[in-house]
Amino acid sequence: MTEQTYLANGNEVQLFEQAYRQRLPVMLTGPTGCGKTRLVEHMGLLLARPVVTISCHDDLTSSDLVGRFIVTGGDVVWTDGPLTRAVKAGAICYLDEVVEARHDSLAVLHSLTDHRRTLYLDRAGEVVQAPENFMLVCSYNPAYRSSLKELKPSFRQRFVTLPMDYLRADREAEVIVAEAGIDPAAAERLVRCATAIRTADEAFHYEPPSTRVLVTAAHLIAAGASELDAAQACVLAPLSSDGAISEGLREVAAAGLAGADSQSPNR
Ligand SMILES: Nc1ncnc2c1ncn2[C@@H]1O[C@H](COP(=O)(O)OP(=O)(O)O)[C@@H](O)[C@H]1O
Ligand SMILES: [Mg+2]
Repeated sequence: MTEQTYLANGNEVQLFEQAYRQRLPVMLTGPTGCGKTRLVEHMGLLLARPVVTISCHDDLTSSDLVGRFIVTGGDVVWTDGPLTRAVKAGAICYLDEVVEARHDSLAVLHSLTDHRRTLYLDRAGEVVQAPENFMLVCSYNPAYRSSLKELKPSFRQRFVTLPMDYLRADREAEVIVAEAGIDPAAAERLVRCATAIRTADEAFHYEPPSTRVLVTAAHLIAAGASELDAAQACVLAPLSSDGAISEGLREVAAAGLAGADSQSPNR
């Protein structure tokens, strides 16, 4: 097993811990692949709490969260859902992409996110008081702007919100080196390439390349791929669903990688 590291972007680790100590729920916002899941895993280790992750989607029902009666061999038995299990275990329950879930499925969270810290299992006739070490964490990517998928302001205001973003260039390169073990200069070039696209993105309207795709590209480079091929396959190609990337964007990316194949150390 490899040890996972988390490089902080600001004071999010302290704020997360302070929220935990005060038994407050946390909402992480930020673009895909910027480290939200990694932060939650890191905090689980730091606070010595297990993490129960639930990926939200629009078919998710409140029964999927809290549990349901299941027929087994003629008997009807109540089976706790992942949220109930997390509450009972005093875990960190992480609802990933919470904006994907329907509002009525999330209503069950209300009594957990205020002073009550209580989960009402109406069907089972059970009331579960959350232990001190239970924490609810949600995340979503505010860049996916769709009128159908918006969290209600009243829901958002129940959480301590920690806005996350890509790391500063030198820190992002550090992450890439730590994750994939490539040469720091190559990591810097990948970050330059991504930064150039992120900056140009205003004009191109793509979801910008994330730290995740840079780490993936770095893994290919570590396996012997050229930087240009790796950037092509991992950074550029996923930008558009039909693979049609404008020549302008290709040039922007290639300019970021400039110097890739020179062995000259004077850079
Ligand atoms: N701050 C960070 N520290 C360490 N690794 C990071 C960080 N941010 C991103 N990464 C890398 O990027 C990958 C994607 O991050 P992840 O937490 O899964 O993103 P998100 O949950 O925001 O979509 C991680 O697996 C890790 O390799
Ligand atoms: Mg994630």
